[in-house]
Amino acid sequence: MTQDELKKDVGWAALKYIKPGSIVGIGTGSTISYFIDALATIKNRIKGTVSSSNRSSEKLKSLNISVIYCNEIDSLDIYVDSADEIDKYMNMIKGGGGALTQEKIISCIAETFICIVDQSKFVKVLGKFPLPVEVIPMASNYVARELIKLGGIPKHRKNLITDNGNIILDVHNLSITNPVELENSINKIAGVVTVGLFANRSADIAIIGTQKGIKIKHKSYFLK
Ligand code: 5RP
Repeated sequence: MTQDELKKDVGWAALKYIKPGSIVGIGTGSTISYFIDALATIKNRIKGTVSSSNRSSEKLKSLNISVIYCNEIDSLDIYVDSADEIDKYMNMIKGGGGALTQEKIISCIAETFICIVDQSKFVKVLGKFPLPVEVIPMASNYVARELIKLGGIPKHRKNLITDNGNIILDVHNLSITNPVELENSINKIAGVVTVGLFANRSADIAIIGTQKGIKIKHKSYFLK
């Protein structure tokens, strides 16, 4: 199976976790695009969605799936999103699509975070994929200098302004052995809006598409 077929498989596999009457948090990216296609088949059974990007909102609306503004909800049962990398403790690198800040906000509101990925995203140590950091534009040089002090090589992502009007620095050369510590350190730098390291709010369930079929992993299994 191709990577795209694996992404489609996990997108459809996530459907069985959606309870009737629920509001569903929606991530961003090509894998999530397949999940949205699947969700469209049960759109009359859910209350609506909360979207993490203009891109996902546009697709949801084009399929007549209701999109609710994040501040209008008090709680959220479930958030479905993909990742650029995920480790066995369910820590993730996200933000390859530039929507990391809204993704983190919605994931923090959600009771359950389901991460859907093809097998290439499942890694031993996070960091081969450059770590995205959303930054206020006037702080970019300062933040870049601070990221270098943490051992990274930041590169300004060209031709991208986030939905919040900010820029992204992609940080290369990191081997992330303590994700919570690094997430906290980067979030403390003035001018950083969000780092795409999801360790304080890791996933609860991972649905992984492999050549041998779909594998489901629960965080509680690894925390035993
Ligand atoms: C977007 C993300 C995506 O989940 C991540 O980039 C994976 O994308 P894709 O499903 O296209 O491989 O974090 O900000």
